[in-house]
Amino acid sequence: MRIPDYPSQGSDKWAEVDAWFSEKLAPEDSDLKYALANNADQGLPTHDVSSLQGKMLAIFMQMSRAVRVLEIGTLGGYSTIWMAKALPPHGSITTIEFNEHHAEVASQNINNAGLAERVTLHRGAALEVLPTLDAPFDLIFIDADKVNNPHYLEWAMRLSKPGTVIVGDNSVRGGNVIDPSSEDPNVIGLRKFVGMISEDERLEATAVQTVGEKGWDGFVIAIVKTL
Ligand code: DHB
Ligand code: MG
Repeated sequence: MRIPDYPSQGSDKWAEVDAWFSEKLAPEDSDLKYALANNADQGLPTHDVSSLQGKMLAIFMQMSRAVRVLEIGTLGGYSTIWMAKALPPHGSITTIEFNEHHAEVASQNINNAGLAERVTLHRGAALEVLPTLDAPFDLIFIDADKVNNPHYLEWAMRLSKPGTVIVGDNSVRGGNVIDPSSEDPNVIGLRKFVGMISEDERLEATAVQTVGEKGWDGFVIAIVKTL
């Protein structure tokens, strides 16, 4: 293990640093601010991606020249809006939300942002919607219940082409992902998800741990090499 030769600050600064970079590099426009306020008004859980993470997804899209994007787990559409704004003019996002109330609020937020034409919101269980979608997608963001991540990965592969980027949110969960004896179904799902990626020769992948306003978590980032 490498010991960093720079000072490693504690968690009290993580959110402050997020806020500083966010203001400089990923400021929220009025549509994103509206979405967060509307989500709060309507009682949605506050586990949207951070603004810096939304911008990261937008940058991944631009790096991979993504035109068709799939999101599994819409919540209130905050990440959806970040990504929809990064699409080229002919691009589109398909997003799937299981919770009817969350989907209703997401729809309001997407409409408010004037993005309804680029975003197709499916209401229902992702495992029922995924088989109905046309392949391929250029970028797939997996951010729903982690229990089903292994199934979402199977569908992501079916809906991919060589070059498709697959991003999995919440892949670290405060370090719990490395606990082989965890009985948390989310951790079990994540561990299987990572194991499947690791053994799949069609995929090249990495993991990035993150700290910030959402505490300690991280992303798995994979690219489909061949199918
Ligand atoms: C949870 C889900 C998320 O997608 C997230 O980013 C953070 C937390 C959760 O269900 O606890
Ligand atoms: Mg998430």
